[in-house]
Amino acid sequence: MASHINSINQHLALEFQASHTYLAMSIWLREKDLHGFSSYMLNKSTEERGHASRMIAYLVDSDAEVQLPTIESPNRTWPSVKDVFEMVYEMEKDVTASINNIYSKSEQEGDRAATAMLDWFISEQLQEEAEARFVLKRLRLADGNAAALILLDQQFLDGTLLAHVKAGGAFNSSGGSGADGNAA
Ligand SMILES: [Fe+2]
Ligand SMILES: [Fe+2]
Repeated sequence: MASHINSINQHLALEFQASHTYLAMSIWLREKDLHGFSSYMLNKSTEERGHASRMIAYLVDSDAEVQLPTIESPNRTWPSVKDVFEMVYEMEKDVTASINNIYSKSEQEGDRAATAMLDWFISEQLQEEAEARFVLKRLRLADGNAAALILLDQQFLDGTLLAHVKAGGAFNSSGGSGADGNAA
């Protein structure tokens, strides 16, 4: 098996494990009645499964063998919501490092179909890290304050918390941002 194919199979474990971990986080947050945070994590869980599916589609379409991984039982409690997001950020950085590694190997193999498939993941990971870092910084500012946490939870429910980050902030290519009314 070519080394990049092997690495893609190994990477499936990271995506499935992330999906499982986000589901566990969603359950824990729901138990804390933080429904906004919980829904966000449930969506992330579904998204990660979709990421694994994208890679499986590439493997199947290129007639490569798919080896599904064993998924470990994730944490089920965390000391605080901030700790949840510390873990999210670290997990996403690990995924990014793995994608970059697979990308380099695919380039060495001259597999253009693989790099084309991975281009989507490069942009996705940039976005995922930006989101995780933004929420983590908000949580550090909140510093365990209940009112701040409830406000963030409500912003997740309203869909406003990450709107500015998703739009690329003030530095997106259209030269303005949609979320704060400063669009040029
Ligand atoms: Fe992912
Ligand atoms: Fe992710």
